[in-house]
Amino acid sequence: MKPTTFALTLSLLLMNSTTIAAETEKDPIIEAKIVTYRATIKDFGGALKAKLVEALKSEGAIAALEVCYVEASKIAAEKSKVSGITIGRTSLKPRNADNAPDHWEIAVLNVFEERKAQGEDPTKLEFYEVLENEGQKQLRYMKAIPTDTPCLTCHGGEITPEIQAKLQELYPDDQAIGFKQGDIRGAFTLKQILPE
Ligand code: HEC
Repeated sequence: MKPTTFALTLSLLLMNSTTIAAETEKDPIIEAKIVTYRATIKDFGGALKAKLVEALKSEGAIAALEVCYVEASKIAAEKSKVSGITIGRTSLKPRNADNAPDHWEIAVLNVFEERKAQGEDPTKLEFYEVLENEGQKQLRYMKAIPTDTPCLTCHGGEITPEIQAKLQELYPDDQAIGFKQGDIRGAFTLKQILPE
């Protein structure tokens, strides 16, 4: 078992549902970073949603889809450059293969599903952990993204043939359909190298 995998397994055992902290002792430096991460997500998620809503309203779903296609990674790259924090979106059923989760993200997404099944509010699910790899410390954080009604146009069970065709063209391996309102669509995922 690799050290990072072990760290996650251990911290998940230690975690209880009322705390998000992976570690038993709270570190004020890490806590402060998490506050920044939450703000970064608001910023990134807000910018993305604004573009999406604007395009849906003025030009319709196909244009909005192109916005997602082009803008999501562009906005993420801009935010990362400014903050030094790498930010992205991932999912157990990704649309864009570039957003596919790594081992740590799969484990956290599965825990989110379990916690939701136990009655936790999916809008509040978050998790973080400091991982050590070859002497380098990295802070990783995830926050669940629930599915809302407007999301169903492109992620739901009944997608118009026109949108379906466009999705097929852009994402031949698309898995991100068949979601219902309240399902966990995916998560924001952030990481940052910590100084020694
Ligand atoms: C107009 C169509 C459209 C709507 C509406 C839409 N999405 Fe998406 N969504 C996309 C496309 C296209 C992608 C792929 C973006 C990319 O290439 O990175 C995507 C990707 C995602 C991803 C990244 C993971 C993945 O599957 O690649 C998440 C998370 C996501 N959408 C959540 C949502 C949520 C939550 C809503 C509602 C607030 C929503 N989407 C509404 C089209 C849409």
